[in-house]
Amino acid sequence: MKLIVAGATGFVGTEVIRQALSHPGVTSILALARRTTPVPANAGPGADASKLQSVVCDDFENYSDSVKQQLSGADACVWLIAVTPSQLRSMPWEEARKICYDYTVKGLETIGKLSPASGKPLRFVYTSGANSERDPSKKPFILGDYCVMRGETENFVLKYAKDSNGAVDATVAKPGLIDAPGKWGIAMRVLSTIGRSIIGLPKVELTEIAATLIDQAVNGIEKDTLLNEDLVRIGQKVSGESE
Ligand SMILES: NC(=O)c1ccc[n+]([C@@H]2O[C@H](COP(=O)([O-])OP(=O)(O)OC[C@H]3O[C@@H](n4cnc5c(N)ncnc54)[C@H](OP(=O)(O)O)[C@@H]3O)[C@@H](O)[C@H]2O)c1
Repeated sequence: MKLIVAGATGFVGTEVIRQALSHPGVTSILALARRTTPVPANAGPGADASKLQSVVCDDFENYSDSVKQQLSGADACVWLIAVTPSQLRSMPWEEARKICYDYTVKGLETIGKLSPASGKPLRFVYTSGANSERDPSKKPFILGDYCVMRGETENFVLKYAKDSNGAVDATVAKPGLIDAPGKWGIAMRVLSTIGRSIIGLPKVELTEIAATLIDQAVNGIEKDTLLNEDLVRIGQKVSGESE
């Protein structure tokens, strides 16, 4: 199957690409980003780098014909383009909303119309966050506007799929903190563990969430919302099976 990974250059995207290169169910990876996606350094012995095709897009609000042509015929898309909370202070709010909400809307509207070659529904696997809030009246105390805006994006994705007459099948993954070996030094790791326990934020390993996103894209969507515990469960199951 042909898999689009949107946000292929990021933290999660790099691991999705790394695993997809060795995944027998993925024959072709279209790495969509604003810059060239390199082959991950630690791709592993079973990786087939020839599966990777970098698709550089310079306008995510207006896809060029060339980009659309390169993305056509894909069976599934893992969407990872967003601004994470730590990056919010480095840009105006309108810019963050454009990247998180507008780019997702345009991306799904564009890719959703480029039918898979199989004639089956496009599987759209959207990655959001555990604290994103779909009900604006329940705006969280911490990062309220951001959480509601991400929830609004989740609502859009699920409604688009529901109204698509079977053209799109979608799921929203809601990870807590995504952890990986070497992500932090000891001091930051202790601080993050304390912070997470205070606000009740769960954790998933990078390898687990990447395995889950690929599994849902390749084997089909289990349900329309995947909570952190689902991401851990599915990720551990499919990683165990592939060992
Ligand atoms: N990391 C976590 O602990 C965590 C936890 C919960 C949820 N999530 C969610 O998981 C998803 C992926 O997160 P991540 O950690 O992989 O984020 P990331 O490392 O910041 O990657 C984000 C991706 O979006 C792209 N992007 C950002 N701004 C863009 C712009 N203006 N135009 C085009 N592309 C742009 C980045 O491209 P460049 O590489 O060119 O910047 C990158 O490919 C996000 O939805 C995030 O909210 C992450």
